[in-house]
Amino acid sequence: MLPTPSISKLNIAHVYEPAEDSFLFLDVLQDELPYLRERFSTANAPTPLVAEIGLGSGIVTTFFHKNILPNALFLGTDLNPYACSKSKETSKENGDTRYFDVLRTNLLDGLRPGLVDVLLFNPPYVPDHTVPSFESAVKTDDWLDFALLGGCDGMQVTSVVLDHLAEFLNLARGVAYVLFCRRNKPTEVAKLMRNRGWIVDMIEERKAGWEVLSVWKFSKVK
Ligand SMILES: C[S@@+](CC[C@H](N)C(=O)[O-])C[C@H]1O[C@@H](n2cnc3c(N)ncnc32)[C@H](O)[C@@H]1O
Repeated sequence: MLPTPSISKLNIAHVYEPAEDSFLFLDVLQDELPYLRERFSTANAPTPLVAEIGLGSGIVTTFFHKNILPNALFLGTDLNPYACSKSKETSKENGDTRYFDVLRTNLLDGLRPGLVDVLLFNPPYVPDHTVPSFESAVKTDDWLDFALLGGCDGMQVTSVVLDHLAEFLNLARGVAYVLFCRRNKPTEVAKLMRNRGWIVDMIEERKAGWEVLSVWKFSKVK
């Protein structure tokens, strides 16, 4: 069992507190360790860039740099300013890594295309009538709905990422891990992505209260 990062003094009024979805994500990365090491740690392979969209507390990226590929380069984004600073603190609290940049940006806006080798995304996935706007989150300082609510089918934010996956990822070796709940209709999403030429695998599915969560892997090359 790989160690879970410690996160002290998390202000849960400001930053998403790691929950079943975050812990499922960590378990998936643990299961994927042999695959990820084989894909990215071979001699003479270029140093991989690991990017996380929606860092929150920083638990997922920190787990990754502590346990999976410690020598990778790390980049994370969030629109929540508290998440941007907390994720840096979490990384430091757990031993830090040489290269971890945090950008306060929408998804991966501003990044050059084709750079990302490993993409990690635990999105706002809960279905609701709308996705809270960034402007209203700034105005009300309410970042918790912003962390969770994904609009129609809970897919409004995730769909943008999946529609642009071919731009974000290094297609020759890149791989993306994305979390879904059952109401996101992940099997239909997988079918759509396969029709677009992606190799899609469900890595793990888990019941969490009345919700069923799963993490799926997308790549163009096995
Ligand atoms: C469900 S939380 C996951 C947090 C953390 N990765 C974890 O697993 O515990 C989703 C995160 O995505 C961030 N987020 C939501 N919409 C975003 C966007 N358009 N661009 C960047 N980050 C976003 C939220 O602020 C929140 O921190």
